[in-house]
Amino acid sequence: MSFDDFTAARERLVPLIDQELLALVPEGIHDASRLTAAMRYALMAGGKRVRPLLTVLTGRLFDVAETAAIRIGAAIECVHTYSLIHDDLPAMDDALERRGRPTLHKAFDEATAILAGDALQALAFEALVSRRLAVPVEAKVALVGGLARAAGLPGMCGGQMLDLEAGSTTRLEDVERLQALKTGALITFSCEAGALAGAAGEDALAAVVDYGRAIGAAFQIRDDLLDVTGDAAVVGKDLGRDLAQEKATFVSCLGVEGASAALADAVQKAEAALDRFGSAARPLAELARYIAARTS
Ligand code: IPE
Ligand code: IPE
Ligand code: MG
Ligand code: MG
Ligand code: MG
Repeated sequence: MSFDDFTAARERLVPLIDQELLALVPEGIHDASRLTAAMRYALMAGGKRVRPLLTVLTGRLFDVAETAAIRIGAAIECVHTYSLIHDDLPAMDDALERRGRPTLHKAFDEATAILAGDALQALAFEALVSRRLAVPVEAKVALVGGLARAAGLPGMCGGQMLDLEAGSTTRLEDVERLQALKTGALITFSCEAGALAGAAGEDALAAVVDYGRAIGAAFQIRDDLLDVTGDAAVVGKDLGRDLAQEKATFVSCLGVEGASAALADAVQKAEAALDRFGSAARPLAELARYIAARTS
């Protein structure tokens, strides 16, 4: 059976990714069962798993064993889930709904949500150094360093800070910069991780990073568009928040039409970056188009 096509790959891989995430937070062995329950609630709320899919599909280009790529992708998904839990807190976006369910601090409480985010971040790094992850130790070191950068000051946290401070800037450069950090860094790293695990050469790694940057941009442009034009029942999270909180977004800078054009441009860049990999990269090209068309 061929899984060249992204939809088929996604349908097969998402249950395996979910299984891996559940295995990372087993029930019954922790004293802090409320924290376990909160972590599982956040992990199992039906995320699209875009980041682990990127790791597995990129890993395929470099012959990375699928089990290993799923484990690396699950670690990245833990950081992503933590970032959403904290993003939704009253001190940040003050959101009530996430993935079609109450946000973690609403379903549990704020202190538990903060701790669940903290614990998920720590868990990600534990998973990357685990003996269960069968990749060379040099690759593990590169993955740990890369994930730390993508999550921290030069990545997601730095971008979230810029997002809080950006106010109603209308400068596209400001929005591009904050996007590249807050969403782009982790998405780019999700692609890079597949290449690092497969000991890719410099040029191939650079092409993967170019692809990752382009789909990171596409991803946030689509997110900003959905905040304005999406159907709340389908998106599964509070909409209209960006405008209400006067966030600087691609839509506030470019308008809906301009943002849509920027989205098409980003998808084209993503596809162009894959040229050197030929038909093996077809699912990644399809994933770029899926991101641009997603309704949730
Ligand atoms: C939403 O990420 C937050 C952003 C980075 C814009 P996703 O849209 O990947 O969220 P889930 O994991 O599928 O819910
Ligand atoms: C947050 O961006 C991205 C993160 C780093 C979590 P948004 O605030 O736009 O994400 P949503 O729209 O709440 O998912
Ligand atoms: Mg936010
Ligand atoms: Mg938010
Ligand atoms: Mg958003």
